[in-house]
Amino acid sequence: MEENIPNPELLTAQLLAAEEILEEEEFHHLNNPAEGIKPIVKKYLGIPNHVEQIDNRFYFTDGDANVEVVVVTKTIIRVRLAPHSVFLEEFSYAVPELPQEAVEYSLFEDETEFRVSTELVNCHIRKQDFHISFSDNTGHVTSTDATPMHWEENVKFGGYYVFCTKECHNEESFFGLGDKATDFNLRGKRLKNWNTDAYSFNWNQDPLYRSIPFYISVNEGIAHGIFFDNTFKAHFDFGAEDATKTSFWADGGELQYYYIHGPHMMDVVKNYHILTGKHPMPPRWALGYHQCRWSYYPENKVRVIANGFRQNKIPCDGIYLDIDYMDGYRCFTWNRKYFPDPKKMISDLAANGFKTVVIIDPGIRVDDNYAVFKEGKENRYFCRRCDDYFMEGHVWPGRCQFPDFTNPEVRNWWGNLFDELVDYGVAGVWNDMNEPAVFGSGTFPDDVRHQYDGYRGSHRKAHNVYGMQMVRATYEGLRKQMKNKRPFTITRAGYAGVQRYSSVWTGDNVASWEHLRLGNIQLQRLSISGISFCGTDIGGFSGEPDGELFTRWIQLGSFSPFMRAHSAGDTKEREPWSFGEPFTSINRKFIELRYRLIPYLYSAFWEHYRYGFPILRPLVMHEQSEMANHFRQDEFTFGDKILVCPVLNPGQQSRNVYLPKGKWYDFWTLEMVDGGRELAVQTPLDIMPIFVKAGSVIPEYPVMQYTGEKDIEEVKLNIYYSDSDVRSFLFEDYGETFAYEQDIYLEKKFLVNGTADSLTIQQSMEGLYTPRYEGYHLKLNGLPFKPAKIIADGTEVKDIVFNKDKTYEFKFRKNFKKIEIFR
Ligand code: GLC
Repeated sequence: MEENIPNPELLTAQLLAAEEILEEEEFHHLNNPAEGIKPIVKKYLGIPNHVEQIDNRFYFTDGDANVEVVVVTKTIIRVRLAPHSVFLEEFSYAVPELPQEAVEYSLFEDETEFRVSTELVNCHIRKQDFHISFSDNTGHVTSTDATPMHWEENVKFGGYYVFCTKECHNEESFFGLGDKATDFNLRGKRLKNWNTDAYSFNWNQDPLYRSIPFYISVNEGIAHGIFFDNTFKAHFDFGAEDATKTSFWADGGELQYYYIHGPHMMDVVKNYHILTGKHPMPPRWALGYHQCRWSYYPENKVRVIANGFRQNKIPCDGIYLDIDYMDGYRCFTWNRKYFPDPKKMISDLAANGFKTVVIIDPGIRVDDNYAVFKEGKENRYFCRRCDDYFMEGHVWPGRCQFPDFTNPEVRNWWGNLFDELVDYGVAGVWNDMNEPAVFGSGTFPDDVRHQYDGYRGSHRKAHNVYGMQMVRATYEGLRKQMKNKRPFTITRAGYAGVQRYSSVWTGDNVASWEHLRLGNIQLQRLSISGISFCGTDIGGFSGEPDGELFTRWIQLGSFSPFMRAHSAGDTKEREPWSFGEPFTSINRKFIELRYRLIPYLYSAFWEHYRYGFPILRPLVMHEQSEMANHFRQDEFTFGDKILVCPVLNPGQQSRNVYLPKGKWYDFWTLEMVDGGRELAVQTPLDIMPIFVKAGSVIPEYPVMQYTGEKDIEEVKLNIYYSDSDVRSFLFEDYGETFAYEQDIYLEKKFLVNGTADSLTIQQSMEGLYTPRYEGYHLKLNGLPFKPAKIIADGTEVKDIVFNKDKTYEFKFRKNFKKIEIFR
């Protein structure tokens, strides 16, 4: 029944400032009410007749309902509706606190409208009908209500179903919403947010594991974002039912959204990060390759796999223990038959360069002989139904109860449970099944109560944040117990803001080419939806990939911020060497490339953390005015310098690549190519097309079998000639502590600029960290002349290597300020 929820707009047609009695049948679509519930009244905002200002908050009323407009920053305005004047207390898991920015604003009124303005955006409240619209400081209107905001009373639970409907324009495109399993451009789609365990999901299946109620619109080359901060089941319609309307609505909570102005998509994403937070710097090892499987056990198997990496000389940093390491799947226990001495095993693995990551699920087995259950029971930490019965359900351990992670006391308890695992040397924790998933029923019933950090609610309100609060408890607990070391966490479920606590993976995908294509889109989408640290199960979780599919997935995975292969228990062995040659060698080549690029990726994380940039950037983000780019969904840049064009079809020997305007270098051949066009590129199995933006400085580490295997003696800087100014970053620090929060880091900026006869590289630095290595190994690519003289900080460099492929190499000290290369 729920699947047929009609667009609120079509239900309500032209009714303005009026009340409508819905037919009982229509109402059923929206509420699925219990027997005997009367039809309800649907209400619209009336005529705004009064405004009151308290600092940066403006309250408009029609005499009954109240609308709050808050100037959050110069480019972010929040709108909130109180159907009968009373707002809920302000609390959000996504936005712990509004940004504190001194901003000027003003209120203006004439016969037709009220207008709240900052120097960059205006929020217009139309007097005739309470339509709310937004424009920029040139008067260009970016977003307009198609009807006034409206609501319907929820007779069963109290509160309201809340609706907002905006105009949708002919060429308007929509992006975002997290990990939706559909085309990148969401135009014409209707989607729902309700965290769901979606084993082996299909293309277009919705909803999936996460709920990120944030989308970006691009219309006439101008972008804006809407962040509908509502944790209830929420719906989005991007011109699906009526091509002229975009709607979003939820089954409860407040109609509260942030309008985030562009004009560029990048501005929108950066500002979304300002609201919901960024991923903290990950431990550097977590950027390496991770190997997972359901499950590696007993202990000897784990050791065999670890040794397999070292014997095959395939780099790897992380090895995972899935549910079978536990005693009867009881969290925080060990199966001592399989793992007699976990501390010793973990320490041996660590000596061999492996970090151990263990899975922890939310279901706690009902068992009075199990300490975690007993403590939770005694302290009343488990979720209860509305009449105080325990919420019970079956998951891996059998009959379970579930901690209420929306209770800060429970989160604290949970965090402390990791002390033994941390003592054993566990470096990371994987939170799964936290949608929350329950066998049979899918998830908890609606009436389950949650403490919700003191703001109380049923599961309808807490469902979508349950997983996020679980991984928050995990992350905060680990952070405390690991002292000053950065914990690694990964979660399956999440809500907007989950990036502050965890990385995510896209859940139980399938070993198919379609899923390779889908994963490629999902990761780009997550990245522009606040979740930059993301990856797919490389190879596909269920089903069997052949060598070709696995290798193409490793190629894409080498450019996923999180890189992990994982597979279900009923599949064949799935390590990078499992498919024999030529696959093993090609997999090695790409995993090695990943390791070479770790300083580049680590710097991209820094740019995310410090400046709010997403790590994967879809083509539309590079050229949003280019309409064709709104539909080009299979290429992206990794950071802002490396364009990746994965090969997504079996037997594919070539593919078309679109290069954004400007000059690019083919990473493999070093040939310079002009962008702003498509070109065909050969794609034999050992090649995935990669292009580097002219002017880039790409830092590189020597290949190691795991991060930190050897001290870095010098950093290689790959410099790609350009005739215009291009800036690059290199971020360095200890790689595993939080010292960067106290400015113990080094942020280097390179500025590259060339002419027909020269190339200049300038370096500037900020921060207090001093790397141990002394020098750089510089490699010049694409120089249009043979260098006759190189002057570095005033002295001439003598030892230049002239390579046959017209690249040139030399070494110099790491603190240089300026290097000039002359014809
Ligand atoms: C779920 C997870 C999967 C894991 C399995 C067993 O299906 O998504 O990654 O391997 O549970 O724990």
